[in-house]
Amino acid sequence: AGSVVRRDRFSGGPARGFLSSLAADERIFEADLAVDRAHVVMLAECGVVDDDTAGDILRALDAIEVDGHATLPDGEDVHEAIETAVIDGVGADGGKMHTARSRNDEVAACIRYRLREDVLEALEATLALREALAAVASEHVETTMPGYTHLQPAQPTTVAHWALSYEGAIRRDTERLLEAYARINASPLGGAAFAGTTFDIDRERTAELLGFDSVIENSMDASSSRDFLLETVQALSTLSTTLSGLAEDVILFANRGFVDLSDDYSSTSSIMPQKKNPDTLELVRAVAGDAAAGVQGLTTTLKGLPRAYNRDLQRATPHAWSTVDAVLEATRVAAGAVATAEWNEDALAAGAGAGFSTATGVADLLAANGVPFRTAHEIVAIAAENGADYAAIESAAEDVLGEPLENYADSGAVESALDPAASVASRDSTGGPAPDAVESQFESARDALES
Ligand code: ARG
Repeated sequence: AGSVVRRDRFSGGPARGFLSSLAADERIFEADLAVDRAHVVMLAECGVVDDDTAGDILRALDAIEVDGHATLPDGEDVHEAIETAVIDGVGADGGKMHTARSRNDEVAACIRYRLREDVLEALEATLALREALAAVASEHVETTMPGYTHLQPAQPTTVAHWALSYEGAIRRDTERLLEAYARINASPLGGAAFAGTTFDIDRERTAELLGFDSVIENSMDASSSRDFLLETVQALSTLSTTLSGLAEDVILFANRGFVDLSDDYSSTSSIMPQKKNPDTLELVRAVAGDAAAGVQGLTTTLKGLPRAYNRDLQRATPHAWSTVDAVLEATRVAAGAVATAEWNEDALAAGAGAGFSTATGVADLLAANGVPFRTAHEIVAIAAENGADYAAIESAAEDVLGEPLENYADSGAVESALDPAASVASRDSTGGPAPDAVESQFESARDALES
């Protein structure tokens, strides 16, 4: 009879479709069944609902699961539709399922339950990407490449050093997601509408049955807070920003012939037959926009909401789903593109020394032999204007210092500083690109991946 009253009261009206989240709730259909089951088991264990009724309700839930979300009766949302289906199957006693709870704590539990799964998938994708970067690094410890600042040739480095720079950043993105996961994984169930319940329920038990690590104690907080959504979407947005830089780098490297993307991660042109375009990475780069939109959408939806539950929250949730979907896919694509790309060592080596990228190493050499660094910088800057070779350095040194270059550095040392590979090998400070220094960064990456 209860459901008849509800149907009469909310039978339609022009705002019916606007009110309903039933279609979008497909995402939490399985979660709602799990939450219903845990709640009913707990109610039976606590003696709030008798075992026979609980059994009938659980069997009805199984049947609903088999039939699927698409066959649910109409309802304002998946919670109401499943309850209606349970009552249709069990009779009025099916209505006992909703004892000692509200849709408010129910939906919060469903979102957390489902988001946990999505975040685990996103975490796995970040690990796969880090593995791919570590694999590139292990193969290219000695592959020199140009390093840029302001997109201008700056100093030579190696492909391994570049790859591990992103592994480090994505390691932190992984940590941020893990921290968000820990706060998602707490149970709001039993908070009811916001004010708890008169029934003698066991909130720890439903938390345990649903695999939550803890219970959100304050019932008003439990039913109304969505900071876990915001935090998760922010962590995903940060990850997507890292991905956009990685994508941009690989797009540039492809443009310069340093890297060849696999056909699987390339696209072609409908008119220009010769084209091989890095479209997948351009889309990865663009997903940072989707994620920023998710953060913005959630922040502005949640901003200023009073306690406790408000229906605005129904429109907050989809921002989280769209963000996690976009960023998960982008992470997987980035991992695939990195894992399958071919590095063109000859082009990279040629590029490594371009634009007098070894200039800093020459200045460092002079400074290490007693020339004040600022004076050394000036000498090499003059040489840069006059051919950027040994002869130019020699004559600039003579002009500025008033004595021959050999008084400070012999020609062999200068030639070595001018060589990109030797230049890289000499920069062995902690975290630097020299193979020895990269070896230790690689070990850190491996340790982090194994833990
Ligand atoms: N579908 C709603 C949501 O996603 C839950 C419904 C709670 N409705 C209510 N009138 N209190 O937030």
